[in-house]
Amino acid sequence: MSAEKVTITLGGKTTECPVVVGTENEHAIDIEKLRADTGFVTLDYGYKNTGATTSKITFLDGEKGILHYRGYEISDLAEKSDFTEVIYLLLYGELPNATQLKEFNQKLKDNSDVPAEIASILKAFPKGTHPMAQLAAATVALSGVYGEGATLKEENFINILAKFPVLVAMVIRNAQGLDFIPNDKNLDYVANFLQMTFGKPATKVLIDAMDKLLILHADHEQNCSTSTVRIVGSSNVNIYASISAGISALWGPLHGGANQAVLEQLHKIDEDGGDTAKFVAMAKDKDSGFRLMGFGHRVYKNFDPRARIIKKSCDEVLEDLGVTDKKLTIARELEQAALHDDYFVSRKLYPNVDFYSGIIYSAMGFPTDTFTTLFALGRLAGWVSQWKEMKENKEPIGRPRQIYTGANLRPYVAVGER
Ligand code: ACO
Repeated sequence: MSAEKVTITLGGKTTECPVVVGTENEHAIDIEKLRADTGFVTLDYGYKNTGATTSKITFLDGEKGILHYRGYEISDLAEKSDFTEVIYLLLYGELPNATQLKEFNQKLKDNSDVPAEIASILKAFPKGTHPMAQLAAATVALSGVYGEGATLKEENFINILAKFPVLVAMVIRNAQGLDFIPNDKNLDYVANFLQMTFGKPATKVLIDAMDKLLILHADHEQNCSTSTVRIVGSSNVNIYASISAGISALWGPLHGGANQAVLEQLHKIDEDGGDTAKFVAMAKDKDSGFRLMGFGHRVYKNFDPRARIIKKSCDEVLEDLGVTDKKLTIARELEQAALHDDYFVSRKLYPNVDFYSGIIYSAMGFPTDTFTTLFALGRLAGWVSQWKEMKENKEPIGRPRQIYTGANLRPYVAVGER
């Protein structure tokens, strides 16, 4: 809070709104009393200019292309840290020392077994059920086994964080009609996840690449799925239901589902003969209803810092795996076309993190429709940390206002008289 205040006079009534200043010098007008004092509410479709909360977890500056977790530069964390250390950082606010990290990793291993009932639920899904539907349902089903999930107890966070990689691996195998691989508690978080997914020990290159992808996806302040987790959690429902809602929000192609949509689009362009110019022209034509998936971002209007890191990682992984894929050539052509085309440049539409992540996941051997579950695995760290922060702040239930634009009061007419 600063000493500065904004005085607003509307309809002859005046209110004073405090100005809130963040630690990175972001300014907001606190309009909490606006309606009570003047009768006005604010209207902001898609919350493009509305802060829903204050948060100490992630800072991003879309104009400058900056992303920090708890004050640490994303590139530093991607380069020097590992995923479970980043989970600890997001959850508790500080990097762990060696003992704390060891204990944290041990807790994650100790609590990682997924109950047999959940495995049965997964097996009962109709063939072809999207992996994100399976993941959302299996996550909320955990509340049937762990009933205490609505409270701010550490075991609730640990429980879901520990089980999630095992659950995601089970979903990925189930979606392919494959049997589950046993959970190996001797392995680390990411190595065990990859072994449970592919049924064989993962190479160091794969483990490192996956680790980096999970770090890059771990949090992104108040995005669609995170806002969903916070708003659902604000009703005091348990953490499993809150996270399940976040998974559903993430599924959409305008959000996390973009990584699947990117690969499907590259495949379509390839099947169509690989003429990227044709698809770039379509994306520019508003009547076509076609968008280039993996381009543009609500917040980043300069570049997506995660995309820069992941692009480098993508090149390394593909070279290491010796993967040559026509889709990769198409992706590079699209990227170049968009970076030099006035339509994309003037609208600041740069490749986002999902433009590259799908290409790496594909090279690693994940089926296209499972990509978004990998995003969820990374983002869980942020969801749980944000849920915990929302509870610690004792935030009220989330309930936006609206401006009604429907019919005015009219008499009911019986069906036979209409
Ligand atoms: N292809 C073509 N045109 C686009 C694209 C695109 N991918 N994205 C935006 N535009 C155009 C819009 O048509 C609009 O043009 P106009 O000003 O002439 O009307 C302008 O750019 C602004 O677009 P908005 O939709 O208003 O931007 P918004 O911030 O609401 O949307 C979004 C951002 C949803 C990410 C959008 O860029 C998009 O749909 N991208 C493709 C899907 C995608 O990659 N999503 C992943 C996001 S990253 C993540 O969730 C991790």
